[in-house]
Amino acid sequence: MILLTGVTGKTGGAAASELIKKGVSLRALVRDADKASALKEAGVELVVGDAAERDVVARALDGVEKALLILPNSQEQQDMEMQFVDLAAEAGVRHFVKLSSLEALPEATSPIPSMHYAVEQHICTTDMDWTMIKPNFFMQNLLPSGFVIKAEGKFYLPMGDGVTVMMDCRDIGAVIAEVLVGTDHEGQSYKISGPELITFHDVADQFSEVLGKKVEYVNQDPAAYRERVAPFLSSEWHLDAVMHLFSEVVDGVVMPTVTDTFEQLVGREPIPFRRFVQDHIGVYQ
Ligand SMILES: NC(=O)c1ccc[n+]([C@@H]2O[C@H](COP(=O)([O-])OP(=O)(O)OC[C@H]3O[C@@H](n4cnc5c(N)ncnc54)[C@H](OP(=O)(O)O)[C@@H]3O)[C@@H](O)[C@H]2O)c1
Repeated sequence: MILLTGVTGKTGGAAASELIKKGVSLRALVRDADKASALKEAGVELVVGDAAERDVVARALDGVEKALLILPNSQEQQDMEMQFVDLAAEAGVRHFVKLSSLEALPEATSPIPSMHYAVEQHICTTDMDWTMIKPNFFMQNLLPSGFVIKAEGKFYLPMGDGVTVMMDCRDIGAVIAEVLVGTDHEGQSYKISGPELITFHDVADQFSEVLGKKVEYVNQDPAAYRERVAPFLSSEWHLDAVMHLFSEVVDGVVMPTVTDTFEQLVGREPIPFRRFVQDHIGVYQ
């Protein structure tokens, strides 16, 4: 039995779809059973509850051989993840897979990458086998810009000339599925990337090409961007953490590199940004 978390979200949902195709026994910890009804219909066993609650997590982990940990960024994420790791080790989970990030390095000072690094380190102190999945900026982060691209032909980010190796969450899901059902992934920290180094100027060019109209990248002043996104983020902590991470992209604190890890694991090329836009054309046009 494999326990999944985050299945009503972007990467966990993609991982669940891939794993269902592989026909393995799956259980998912979800907060809202209605949101996961399609997964239930596809044969996924649901445990309903919050990852903050020990008894819920312990119940979800009962009899589980492998577990996937994905939680969204919040001030509580580290504590929830640490508790989840401890409970998984107690439950006798053999292989633990964590969605982390490319920037989660020993020298990380930004709140989100340092949180991921601390949890990675904690996992390594347990007896469980582990695999860390370490992507960079998700292409799906640009879905909320669909509205403003439609309305103004512009998108706003405070990224300067910063470079990323953007990755489609569907590809991250494919990696997770391979790690959970394939062999020899234990003890691996997989730095996975999309097919190209890409700036947000390149992103604007690719939007323009695919949409057949000029799309402009507005390199927004951080204070103005902060105000723009504040209503959509869960707390002041989250807002500070995102702004800090974005400032590191601008400053090139972690210089991303294109890796062939995705192709080696999944056996095809990763989805390029152009294809992501084509696949979500209704969001942008
Ligand atoms: N965005 C990026 O560019 C990027 C890059 C690298 C790494 N990451 C990492 O990716 C992770 C987020 O992944 P994602 O974007 O796929 O997530 P997401 O789309 O935001 O979805 C979050 C999932 O977690 C569930 N969840 C939230 N709080 C929960 C709780 N207390 N108990 C149980 N389940 C809970 C949500 O369920 P509900 O449907 O009930 O809300 C949802 O299924 C973060 O740790 C982030 O640091 C992100």
